[in-house]
Order: sequence, then structure tokens, then C-alpha cells
Amino acid sequence: MSRLLRVKPMSMLSAEANERGEHTLRRSLGPTNLITLGIGAIIGAGIFVLTGQAAALHAGPAVALSFVLAGITCAFAGLCYAEFASIIPIAGSAYTYGYATLGEFVAWIIGWDLGLEYGFGAATVASGWAGYFNSLLQQLGIHFPPRLTATPGTVLVFFQDRWVPLTSLPPGTGAAGLPHVTALFNLLAILAILAVTTVLVIGIKESANLNTAIVFVKLSVVGIFLVLGVYFLARHPHLAWSNWHPYFPPSDGHGNFGYKGIATGAASIFFAYIGFDAVSTAAQEAKNPQKDMPLGILGSLVICTILYILVSTVLTGLVNYKLLNVADPVALGIDATGVSWGSLLVKIGAIFGLATVMLVMLLGQSRVFFSMSRDGLLPKWASAIHPKFRTPWISTITVGTVVAILPAFLSVGRLAELVNIGTLLAFTIVCAGVWVLRVRHPDLHRPFRTPLVPLVPILGILTALYLMTNLPRITWMVMIAWLLVGLVIYFGYSVKHSKVQKLARAEVAD
Ligand code: ALA
Repeated sequence: MSRLLRVKPMSMLSAEANERGEHTLRRSLGPTNLITLGIGAIIGAGIFVLTGQAAALHAGPAVALSFVLAGITCAFAGLCYAEFASIIPIAGSAYTYGYATLGEFVAWIIGWDLGLEYGFGAATVASGWAGYFNSLLQQLGIHFPPRLTATPGTVLVFFQDRWVPLTSLPPGTGAAGLPHVTALFNLLAILAILAVTTVLVIGIKESANLNTAIVFVKLSVVGIFLVLGVYFLARHPHLAWSNWHPYFPPSDGHGNFGYKGIATGAASIFFAYIGFDAVSTAAQEAKNPQKDMPLGILGSLVICTILYILVSTVLTGLVNYKLLNVADPVALGIDATGVSWGSLLVKIGAIFGLATVMLVMLLGQSRVFFSMSRDGLLPKWASAIHPKFRTPWISTITVGTVVAILPAFLSVGRLAELVNIGTLLAFTIVCAGVWVLRVRHPDLHRPFRTPLVPLVPILGILTALYLMTNLPRITWMVMIAWLLVGLVIYFGYSVKHSKVQKLARAEVAD
């Protein structure tokens, strides 16, 4: 039992943080890179796709309050992540923090669980990306074979010169007589993941610069949407008034709409915030991690929270929430303003914007495996660094290949719920970890201190658990199955190869 609780010594972590040389990652990221890395990871399929679904299916116009609730949960966790990232500035995120505080077994669980966050997260975004890309192609009159644009079994109908899912037709539209096909799998999503994987293998510096450029495109698109939307609503206040009423549509008795819908919506759009923690996975590549990690994590979180509340409010004012369950709700919103170039612009922005999210997610996933492999918990090849590109290329390619398969077969909503539950679990463990570390190592130098410990960690744990209880049972079952597979690998491989365990055995032998 004590073996499972063995922590990774702080001295070992500091030594890794200070390593230099050929076999290490390159320290090339400054504060702007880190904030943009955060925004690059955060603004994505959540706001561009899931806001529409959350409004249409769970919360109605009150989806803006869902964003507030999910944002508060993330703020508690973000404060805890920031303290950890400033103390332990090496790759691996919550996994590394767990190893230093709660022991190897919990660390393994988090590391494995992060697969749900980053790996499945990249898959979710790829699915959203494919929706926007296909919508853009169709707007330009190009029809990618419809059977290869959605998850298996999705029925697509040809409506107003486009192939759209049958379920997204406006209520009352008769589908009889419209041409239709049944989708086989989502090839566009596969291609997206493979392209991003290639960029990541080539190099972190190149990836970060590309990311910075695209983040500005993404922010501009969000800004233009807000300006056009607010201007239009100011001139058509009666439209906004009728779309925002009732602000809390009557409850359906299954946790959707009414006041409860705020929480159900929050558990679903929580996905929109995921990513600020991905900044911490790049700590080993930051030039000045102590100062810049908290800045990157909290700065990106605050900027995105404000934008989300604004975008969801404007969107539900422009289009009735019942019509927002489409692949490209923000484009639909801008169409409502009557600006003809608007939806084209949103689609192009979303296509570039979602690409950066995939990039950071896949980066995070391969870096977590990199750290686990350096610790001996995964095979050596997972931490092999490419001699020329200096990136963990084998783990990047392996992750990219596996992740590419997911969005081909699973819908964006289902994937997002899995990601949310995995991430919320990681949040609870990180919050607990900050508290444990304060008790065990009160004198440790903390360049950033989470305020009001243990209150903030406790609130972080409670809010995360609350959102988890609002996710469907099937999501819980898949998470449990995923963790069981992780346990088999841990006891079958990792326990025997763990470096921390080997060190402890050697000390006992002496
Ligand atoms: N927050 C990221 C997104 O919304 C994961 O795409």
C-alpha cells in the first residue's frame, strides 16, 4: 500500500525542471506565447459549436448563466493549477502535481484520466472543426461526399442546397421528399487530426508562433461577431426581447431548462473553458515559468470568461434558442444580422481557431505521456525526442493516430461529455493536491500562492463534483471503464518500471 502512495521527491522534480541539453525540450515560450497558448486552447468548439446545443437542449437563453457557473468552477481550479505550475514548472500538468503530493497511484489515475481530457478533447474539436469546414465548402458550392462528413448512422438531408443533419431542420419542416443519405464516418475530422499531428512533430516553436497568429484571427472573429450582433440588436430591441423571453424556458422534467437547466447547461458547456490548464503542460518549455505560468493560466481564463458571456447573450438574442442546435450556430447568428460576408468570415475564423485548439490539446496529451514515460510508468519510446525537431515525436504520432479515429465515430456532444467528466475529475484531484501540499510542505517556496487555502480548493472540489453529477450516466460508465483499463496497465507494467519505486528499492537495499 505504501508503495502506491510513494510521492515523487521535490528534489527529483527540481532537477528535471533545471535539465538542459540535447535530450530536453526547448525553453522558448514567453508570457505572450503562454497567454495566447491558453486562449488558443480555450476558445474553440465550446463557444463555436456547443453553445448552440446547450441553449437549444439544456438552458435556453440562460446559457449565459451556465457560462458564469462553469467559469466560477474553473476559476477555483485555475488558482490551484497556477500555484502548482509555479512550484513545479515541468511538463505533465496535473499528473506531475499529483505525483508530488498524493502519490504514484493517484498520479497514474490523473495521467490516464488526462487522456480523456486532451485526447478526447482534440477529437471533440476535430468534430466541430469538420462541421464548420463542411459548412464552408457547401457555402462555396463544393459538396464533399456527405456520407463521409458525419458519425455513422447520422441521416443527412439535402435542404436549401446543403446536406444537413435531419435533426437540425427547423421545426415544422417536412423532410419527406428531400434527398437523404446515411453517414458512414467523419473523414474530415480524421484528416484534421492528422494534419495537426504533422505540425506538432515538426516543432514546438513553430507551433507556438502559428498558434499566436491564429489566436488573433480567432479573437478578431469573435470581436466582429459581437460588434455586428450588438449593433443589430440595438436597432431591433423587440427581436432581442422576444428571443430572451422566457429567459428560463419551462423545465422538461429531465433536468433541462428551468433553473436546473443552468447546471445541466454548465456541465455541457464546461468544455468551452477547458484548455487554460493545458498551459501548465508547457511549463518545461517556458522561459520563466515561475512568473509566467500563473499569468498564462489566469490571464487566458479571465479573457475567455468575459467573451463567452457576451457571445452567448448576443447569440441567443439574435436567434431563438430552439433553432441553435446546428453544426455552426455562430455563423447562423451572424446570418441573422443580414451582413452577407459575416457567416463566411465566422466559418473561416472558426476553421483556423479550432485548429489551434486541436494543436494545444494534442500537444498536452503527448507531453503528459512524455512525462509518464520519463518516470518509467509508460514504455521508453513515449519519451523519445526527435534529434532534429526536439519534439516527443513517437508519442505525438501515436496519440495523433489513436485520436484521429474517435471523431470519425462519436458525435461532438458525446465526446464533449466524456472530456468534461475526465477534466472535472482532474480538477478535483489538483485542488485536493494544493491543500495536501500546503499541509505536508508548508515552507516550500511558492512563487504564486492560491488565496484562501483551504477554502478555494474545497470550493473547487465541490463545484467540480456538482457539475459531474449533472452529466449523464453513460458518461460516468465510460469514465469508469477507461479508468479500469488504466489500472490494468498500471499494475501490469508501471509498478514494475517506475523510477520512483526503483529509487526507493535501492535506498532500502543500501
Ligand atoms: N475549450 C476548448 C474548446 O472549446 C476545448 O474547444
